Amino acid sequence: MSAPIDLRSDTVTRPSAAMRQAMVEAEVGDDVYGDDPTVNALQEEAARLMGFEAALFVPSGTMGNLIAVQLHAQRGTEAIVEANSHAYNYELASMAALAGVLPRVVRGVRGCPDPDEIDYLCRNKPYYHAPVTLLLLENTHNYAGGAVLKAQDKDALIAVARRHGVPVHLDGARVLNAAIALASSPAEVVSGFDSVLFCLSKGLGAPIGSMLCGARGFIERARAARKRLGGGMRQVGVLAAAGRVALRHNIARLAEDHARAGRFAAALSGTPGFRIDPSEVETNIVIADVDPPEALTGWLDYLRAGGVLAGTMGRGRIRFVTHLDVDDAAIDRTIALLRARTA
Ligand SMILES: Cc1ncc(COP(=O)(O)O)c(C=O)c1O
Repeated sequence: MSAPIDLRSDTVTRPSAAMRQAMVEAEVGDDVYGDDPTVNALQEEAARLMGFEAALFVPSGTMGNLIAVQLHAQRGTEAIVEANSHAYNYELASMAALAGVLPRVVRGVRGCPDPDEIDYLCRNKPYYHAPVTLLLLENTHNYAGGAVLKAQDKDALIAVARRHGVPVHLDGARVLNAAIALASSPAEVVSGFDSVLFCLSKGLGAPIGSMLCGARGFIERARAARKRLGGGMRQVGVLAAAGRVALRHNIARLAEDHARAGRFAAALSGTPGFRIDPSEVETNIVIADVDPPEALTGWLDYLRAGGVLAGTMGRGRIRFVTHLDVDDAAIDRTIALLRARTA
């Protein structure tokens, strides 16, 4: 039987032949000493791409977000996060457990908080309220189905935070998907943020790694924080080499993933048992409500038996993610399989 069509996440991609070749040929050194030329090149390329002074290669998005929280926010203060954000829901309470920071939760519209609410939360508070020392945003927003944060919303949120002297970190695990969807440069999409985390290991197809970008002093401190967390790596150029291939070859092609996700969402919207507005699918994540919600497990099992893996995102919500190992034929097969059950 052929390999399943894996739509659980864009993290499931296998490194391409070009990546594996680059890994074999990578020049390496001890990165804790700053001696790995491939890591150094990747960090410079990532910083340039995002329009920041410097960047740091970190093992995961989770670690990059945690380091940003640790460096921006003080223990015993609050970080404002969106209710469905990845950092709040899917990172094991790391900001509370390891950074000593209380998440102050606001509910956004498609992942985008209301600037007036941020303004209210940041205003001078009596001494017995913990101060807000960070605003954390997410673009694209995973739980909101890959929703893109629009430039005017981003600017309004950053302006409010700035007015209160509060730094703003972007969990941009998929910010390159946002840049493609907005037809903007990555640097424009992240302009104004104090720091940005983006992942090489999602739509870009690298086997591991994320980049934390910021001002030079911030990244120097981030290097120390990474070491404290046990994330100091040695001859890690073998992994950075794959990341460099990802940046060179796999950004523009994200548009293909978006087109396939849009086509799939349109088909899903016409399939009994699913509720989705395909006009809300802007990037590579398709999330539908299963009707009734209890039918979710049955759908997952049915798809698995037919050779398609899907994921979940909350009660009664099914998630399909397109990526570079999913072609048009795989989308067609998945649509046919869904329709065969309801025909
Ligand atoms: C929006 C978002 N942020 C952060 C992460 C964490 O990345 P990692 O799995 O590399 O820790 C993910 C992973 O899915 C994500 O979707």
